[in-house]
Amino acid sequence: MTESVIAVLGGTGPQGKGLAYRFAKAGRRVILGSRDARRAAEAAHELDERVGGGGLVTGATNPEATSQASLVVVAVPWDGHDELIGSLRAELVEKIVVSCVNPIGFDKRGPFGLPMADSSAAEHLQSIVPEARVVAAFHHVSAGNLIGPAEKLDHEDVLVAGDDKDATEAVRELAATVTGRPGIDAGALRLARQLEPLTAVLISINKKYKTRAGVTISGLPEA
Ligand SMILES: NC(=O)c1ccc[n+]([C@@H]2O[C@H](COP(=O)([O-])OP(=O)(O)OC[C@H]3O[C@@H](n4cnc5c(N)ncnc54)[C@H](OP(=O)(O)O)[C@@H]3O)[C@@H](O)[C@H]2O)c1
Repeated sequence: MTESVIAVLGGTGPQGKGLAYRFAKAGRRVILGSRDARRAAEAAHELDERVGGGGLVTGATNPEATSQASLVVVAVPWDGHDELIGSLRAELVEKIVVSCVNPIGFDKRGPFGLPMADSSAAEHLQSIVPEARVVAAFHHVSAGNLIGPAEKLDHEDVLVAGDDKDATEAVRELAATVTGRPGIDAGALRLARQLEPLTAVLISINKKYKTRAGVTISGLPEA
């Protein structure tokens, strides 16, 4: 395990790839995880070329990526999430595990937060791997903006929720690779119950205004 390596599970999808792009662009070493090593290698090659071809981005299966990293970002759909996390239980112990997973459904009235019975995707993760240091973050940054041309998404804030103080601080710092400033400490992990379904509101706004809405918090003291 290397201290500074970040694994992104589901790194072949738009959100995982977008986050990995921002991390690598800021000089962090990233391993894209996938269920298929070849798919991971192809996505990693494409991203590595985009950030200068220095080998900062590589690909691996999800278990290999997880075992080589100290910080793991989970960027897979809610459907299949518990099964994947359960299969990586041993590799995730004691690691900082960041969930950006939004359990969202769609019907004829549009997007909505799925009923989670007093829980959230991030808390599911924590209950499957109690020894992991789970932090919820990056729920409201869109894949399109992440992979887009902006130098930094400095018009957006990353809200970070966690129960492990040091892990939360590490993820707040990581958020600066995306927005140019630390993420906002939003409180305890259980607040993921509010953060995750808020994305349904953003998706609805996106549809109405044909944009990629994000979240900005006003009223904070100057850093
Ligand atoms: N898209 C966004 O703008 C956005 C924004 C904020 C948060 N999020 C959240 O980020 C997560 C990923 O979003 P996405 O749009 O990138 O999703 P996605 O394209 O549907 O899936 C991402 C990757 O997850 C892997 N995957 C798919 N089904 C899986 C399963 N059943 N088990 C294990 N791995 C599976 C696939 O990689 P392999 O086939 O290579 O394994 C896929 O490329 C979601 O939870 C979403 O709510 C997305």
